[in-house]
Amino acid sequence: MRLKPIWTAVLMSGCVATTAGAATPQDTVQLHQRALAAMCANCHGTEGRTVDGSAIPSLAGMPREYMVTQMKAFREGTRPATVMHQITKGLTEEQIQSVSTYFSSLKR
Ligand code: HEC
Repeated sequence: MRLKPIWTAVLMSGCVATTAGAATPQDTVQLHQRALAAMCANCHGTEGRTVDGSAIPSLAGMPREYMVTQMKAFREGTRPATVMHQITKGLTEEQIQSVSTYFSSLKR
């Protein structure tokens, strides 16, 4: 809870290069990304890794631009989906960018 104002500041500035208080903006961004990524773990696996043979694609190591494009296509309805159109409707542009940065940074 103590982090909330910092979160807002980081998100509003869209920038990781500012300095603030005890938790560094980098820490805050990582916390935020991991919280978002936890939403995906039920289906896409812990840290975006699904088990071999799963019908659901792994997200770990997915190219960032591809992931952003797919999520926007789900949200706009231009890519058909069973569940992802609902999930992406609940995400802001910033959250899509942030979660894509996170998963693309993980090893496959
Ligand atoms: C309820 C299960 C579920 C959850 C939760 C979920 N997904 Fe998905 N995801 C799917 C399924 C199923 C597909 C295949 C497309 C479809 O049918 O919706 C998919 C497809 C995708 C794709 C396209 C992959 C490709 O190879 O093109 C991306 C990107 C994606 N999900 C990202 C996410 C992210 C990021 C989150 C968390 C914010 C998330 N998903 C949460 C079930 C889920």
